Amino acid sequence: PRVAVVFGGRSSEHAISCVTAGSVLAAIDRSKYDVLPIGIGTDGRWMLVGDDPARLAIQGDRLPEVTDVAESTAPLILAADPTAREITVLEPGMLPKLLGEIDVVFPLLHGPYGEDGTLQGFLELAQVPYVGSGVLASAASMDKEYMKALFTGFGLPSGPYATVRPREWERDPAAVREAVSSLGFPVFVKPARAGSSMGITKVHRIEDLDAAIEEARRHDPKVIVEGMLTGREIECGVLEFEDGPRASVPAEIRVGGGHEFYDFAAKYLPDNGTRLDVPAELTKEQTAEVQRLAIAAFEALSCEGLARVDFFLLENGHFVINEVNTMPGFTPVSMYPSVWQATGVDYPELVDRLISAALR
Ligand code: DAL
Ligand code: MG
Repeated sequence: PRVAVVFGGRSSEHAISCVTAGSVLAAIDRSKYDVLPIGIGTDGRWMLVGDDPARLAIQGDRLPEVTDVAESTAPLILAADPTAREITVLEPGMLPKLLGEIDVVFPLLHGPYGEDGTLQGFLELAQVPYVGSGVLASAASMDKEYMKALFTGFGLPSGPYATVRPREWERDPAAVREAVSSLGFPVFVKPARAGSSMGITKVHRIEDLDAAIEEARRHDPKVIVEGMLTGREIECGVLEFEDGPRASVPAEIRVGGGHEFYDFAAKYLPDNGTRLDVPAELTKEQTAEVQRLAIAAFEALSCEGLARVDFFLLENGHFVINEVNTMPGFTPVSMYPSVWQATGVDYPELVDRLISAALR
């Protein structure tokens, strides 16, 4: 089968998507799949790119970009040209016609315009199968406000938060400050729809709240403020098998190296002091409980294919779901492939399972 691996994209996680794609391109079984790598530039242009995984790695603290591997920057399709007013009717089968025959798309995109249902909707219209969650699950999991509302609706444990909508902040910041204060300090101020800790600030004092909200608003006009949860950070992978979704062994993130939380540098940059305990040191009962909740969250949001579910294990012994990521990072230091490796599914098999599931 012919697989289009799509990566990069317009979101602030462009570089991480490139690193993820580099790992997947290196692991994909070439005797089984014919691979067509497609990069989406930070401006939204689709480009045919060279298939050179090595050039998609983080070098020191230099982050890769799609243009590093572009064979030609001539737009392939869907040029994001704001002056273009012509509408091209998207006919069934048109995407394969434009790109050559494609059997399946592997959207290795993180963040808005890739992981949030927009690309998934486009692929539905184009009638091309793709790896991972559909439109609704992608959109709901990208938006921290609706994700939490769904957890609550399905009786799943989640933490205290306040949403800062653009109009509220612009009209009545004093009311926003009051709502946030009721959560107590510190709080985490986050763009509602982003990832890889982009735009996140840990705020200890009300005096620093406005600046943190403005920082988050650089990524998303809607902001979410989460009350601090004290406990251990546990993550669990979910992967869909022929007989349904299964949970991996859980793992624990131990942030060190002077990082105040699991921020961008603690996630991806070298020598960051972060330790991943795979599997996490948990009791049998705790392991079973976190796996049960991971699957329940996956099902509640109607996820498909894969997801990573992130938790806090509170000091009182209860798990709280922090979030679901429908296209978790696949970089060499990423949690998702590591937990599956420890569960007995190695990286090439993981990639193969994901593509095979999308083709079923
Ligand atoms: N958003 C990043 C890629 C993750 O969840 O791993
Ligand atoms: Mg995330």
